[in-house]
This record gives sequence, structure tokens and C-alpha cells, in this order.
Amino acid sequence: MCGIIAYKGKDKAISVILEGLKNLEYRGYDSWGIACKSNPSIVLTKGVGNIGEVTEEEIKSELYKGKPLTIGIGHTRWATHGGVTKENAHPHQSENHRVAVVHNGIIENFEELKAKLKNIKFKSETDTEVIPQLLQYHMESRKDFEKAFVDTLKELQGNYAVVAIDQQSDKVLFGKVGSPLVIGKKEDEYFVASDIPAFLKHTNQVIYLEDGEYGSIGDSLKIYKLSNNQIINKDVQTVDWNLEQAQKGEYPHFMIKEIMEQRDSITRALEQKNSNLLKVIEMMKKAKGIFLVGCGTSFHACVSASYNFSHIAKAHVNIVLASEFRNYEEFLTDESLMIAVSQSGETADLIDAVKVAKAKGVKIISLVNVMGSTLKRMSDESLLMNAGPEICVCSTKNYTSQLAILLLLAYGFADRLEEGKELIQSAANKVEELIKNNLDKIKDLAKKLKDNKNMFLIGRDLAYPSALEGALKIKEVSYIHAEGFAGGELKHGTIALIEEGTPVITLATPETEQLINSNAIEIKSRGGYIIGIGSKKHEVYDFYIEVPNFKQANPLLMIVPIQLLAYYLAVERNCNPDKPRNLAKSVTVR
Ligand code: AGP
Ligand code: GLU
Repeated sequence: MCGIIAYKGKDKAISVILEGLKNLEYRGYDSWGIACKSNPSIVLTKGVGNIGEVTEEEIKSELYKGKPLTIGIGHTRWATHGGVTKENAHPHQSENHRVAVVHNGIIENFEELKAKLKNIKFKSETDTEVIPQLLQYHMESRKDFEKAFVDTLKELQGNYAVVAIDQQSDKVLFGKVGSPLVIGKKEDEYFVASDIPAFLKHTNQVIYLEDGEYGSIGDSLKIYKLSNNQIINKDVQTVDWNLEQAQKGEYPHFMIKEIMEQRDSITRALEQKNSNLLKVIEMMKKAKGIFLVGCGTSFHACVSASYNFSHIAKAHVNIVLASEFRNYEEFLTDESLMIAVSQSGETADLIDAVKVAKAKGVKIISLVNVMGSTLKRMSDESLLMNAGPEICVCSTKNYTSQLAILLLLAYGFADRLEEGKELIQSAANKVEELIKNNLDKIKDLAKKLKDNKNMFLIGRDLAYPSALEGALKIKEVSYIHAEGFAGGELKHGTIALIEEGTPVITLATPETEQLINSNAIEIKSRGGYIIGIGSKKHEVYDFYIEVPNFKQANPLLMIVPIQLLAYYLAVERNCNPDKPRNLAKSVTVR
């Protein structure tokens, strides 16, 4: 829900942190701040809004006091406690200005801690500010930055990724419970961040922190277990993402770049080790009760998969919103199986659902895009989407990667793995042609629809989850109210909303086109404007987008024109598709 970057190394802390924050803005962009250890004090600068085009010179003019700046921390915020103000922007300092802290997460017991620190004058409305103030409190007795830091972490409840610096120490301290934190290492330079793109330009040597771990970067890197202060050895992993993947290249936005690269990302999704796939399929066949669980777009992938497990594998799977899963725990057993689907692997609702399931002995399979994510580390087995970093807040290429892998599992469940791979690859190979054939039409359609207040999307069978996902794309980047629902539900209420010119996108598969087109005729007779998407044109369509028929793989292609429409609607409405208002890439609080 926010981006943290800290640096210790050469006299380039400002440029490393500034650039890191810009690469992390997809995690939250209400406000930003940078603090560097200077001499004689920590120098700090903050701003409201996204860090946008803030230049190193502007920052330097505020921070640089002629001393080398080799240690610093930075934060780009997604506010949870306290308004979007400069005062509430991180980093937060202790009352005596000796320490500065950045934090991702929520300190659930911050009010209780504020009461304990009643003699301290708090400057902000945030929960976070209790951390530097508590650190100051413990330093008064401990007289040692690191020991006081450990005492502070032990008093925090809730979830946090925290990094702290001290004016009187050359150490950078960090710790995490619940929110992500990774360390980058490059010879004698160290980076601590919420996510890899923050420092990928400098190194791909990464150490993933687990919950309940903390550490210090002084003369060297040391990592400990918070529970017993024992030092632990962690593997340094090489991430196979390159910088170009984490940058826009010639595209104006990450969203359009990530839509365009779906042929390659779906192809990479298919690059699963057969042994992994077969192990997961075996676990599914043994399970008594399979639960596909996710949030938002990832949940829509679960809904789509439920149809394919029925059609292809003749298997029943339960689909549950992660935030609702806890309400079903009564009938979970140690023979149940959860397939947790998440791009970030850090979604708090899903992590909570996994904890509930694990407490009942449920086996966990995760489908994630981030190798070192919390969800992956909580799982018994995991399949990586291999989609590369998805920077745009709204999920596009990860959705089609999730669809591909879940469809592959359905084919594998039916012992038809190779058939599934061929079908999915052939659909992926069509993405570029589909975009090329329809791009200009979709741009024109966006111009036509951009001032609409409402849009509806309907589909049946496999096209129903496509309608749900298409509606989410449109509303989350263009702010037009879009609602997706099953075609059969139209006459159970929503048709009351159809007025002259109301745009309705109908998604037709060969199996459902007759029924969905009769829905279109009903809508048309009430003045609706029909945008038909499918493999066959119908006279009821006012606008038609042809999507070739790839049977069970249709959802992979059907969503692409709607992703593009959502993007161009956002552009037409001067919305930033990469950083939609109020949203963050990973919802790491419940
Ligand atoms: C998708 O466009 C949204 N940004 C959101 O619904 C997202 O899918 C959801 O928050 C789940 O994220 P995850 O896949 O990282 O768990
Ligand atoms: N809860 C803290 C705040 O509201 C941190 C939010 C975040 O993770 O960005 O400032």
C-alpha cells in the first residue's frame, strides 16, 4: 500500500532514493518524503501528491549541506491513518529529531502506544509516528539504536515494514511483519525496499525478508529473528527481471505496455515445470473440496477457472472472495485444498484467508507473480506466473497469465495437459493480430463513450467472468461506473437502468451467443447501445469487435479489447491509467 526505499553506500543516496520512489509509485502516491543522514542532523524533505517529475536538484537544494549523503530513506504513501498532508507524509521523526522512520502497514495498537508516550508532542495524525517516538523512548533507557529498535518492534501490533536511521549511527535498521520488504545487495551498497523495481537498476541480487525478521546494515548486513534475536543466514537470490521490463520504454503508460505484451506473458505463463504442474494436479485430485480464492481481478480469474474445471475436468471447485473466506471456515478439513491466486502475493485479505485455512490443516497452493512474496512463502506448493513486473495498478497481463495457468490445470486434471498447452499457446499467438485489427476502432469507441456515466457488460458461462473483469478495468482506470453481470440476470433488475444510449458490451461465446444476443435485442428495444464482442457479428450490434473463437481459451482473448477500451477511456478522460485515484497496486491492509 506504499513504497519504501532505503539506501546505504556511496554519496548518491538522493538519486537512488528519488529514482526508487518513482519506480514504486504504483504502490501509492498520496505524498512522498526523503530523509538522509547528514551532518550534524538528519535532513528531510516531503511533498504532497505524487513524486512525479521532482528533480534531484530540487531535492538536493533542500537536503544537501555540503556533506556526503550515503544513508537515506524514502517513502511514497497510500494514507490509511491521517489525511493526505505534508505533515502526515513519511518519513516521520522522533521529537528530538534524532531518528527518522518510514513504514508500510498499519500499527493496530498506535492509540495505546500514544497514550504510553503521553509526554511526547506528536506532530502528525498517523499511526506511523508512534514508531520513531517509541524508538526515542527506548533509546533513553537503552542508549543503543539497535537494541531500542528491537524493543520498539516487539511493542508494535498490526503489520509493518519499517526502516529507520539514526543521526548518531551509521546503521540502517529494518524489520517486517505482514508487509513486504526485500534487500538488494551490490558489493558495498545496500538497498531496502518494498519491491524489487525500486533498485532493479542497481542490482538483481535480492534477499527476501520473512515475517518476524529484522536486521541492520552497518559494516555488513546482519539479519535476525525477532523472537529470539538469533542471527540467521539468508540466501541471496538472483531475480530474472530486467530493468526494461520494469520501465515503460516507448509506451506512454505501463498499462498499454502491459496489455501489448500479453502474447509473451501468456507464453511465459505456460513455461511451468511439468513436475510442478503434475504435483499440483495430484494434490487437486486427492483433495476433498477445492477452494479457488482471490481478490479483484485475481478473483475473476478464479470464477473463470471454475467453469473450465467443470467443462474440461468435470470437477467442482468452490470460488470464494478472499475477504469472505474466513466466514466459511467451519467446513474446512485437512483434506481441503486452497488455490490462492494473487499477482503481488501480498494482498492482506488473501494472506488472512490462507492463515485461516492453514489453521485448519488445509494445503495451500499459490499462484503468484512475485517470487519472494509472502503468499508464496506461506504455500505448500506454488506456481509462478512469470509475467514480469506488473507496474500499472490495474492488472492486465497477470489476469491473462492467471487464466492461462488455471486453464492448464483444468486440462491437466483431465489428463489432457499437452492439448491445453497447445490451445492456450495458439490463443496467445493471436493477441497481437487481435489488437492490430481492432485498435483504431477501440480508440474511436472510447471517444464515443467517454462521457457516459454508466456502462454495462453481460456474458454467460465463460464470458460472465470476462464481463466482471471488464467492468473492473473500465471503472478502476476511467472512473465510469461499469457493472458486469450474468446475461441471465438482466431481467432480474438491471434492465430497469437501460436508457436511450446506455452502452452495453455483450460478450458472446459460440455456446452462449443465441441467448446473449437475445439479451442484446431486449436491451436494444429499450434504447441501449450494443457493443458486441465475439467470433460472429449480429445485426443487433451497433459496434462489433471480432474475437476469434478459441473455445475454452476464449476468456484470454475476449478481455483484451476491453482492457484497451478501459485504457483509452482513461486517456480520453485525462485520468492516469497507471495511478488511478484512491487505489494502490497491492492492498496490504484489510
Ligand atoms: C486489479 O486491476 C486491481 N488492481 C485489484 O482488483 C487487484 O486485482 C486485487 O487487489 C488483487 O491483487 P493481487 O492479485 O495482487 O492479490
Ligand atoms: N498507516 C501509515 C500511514 O497512513 C502507512 C500507510 C502506508 O502503508 O502507506 O501513513
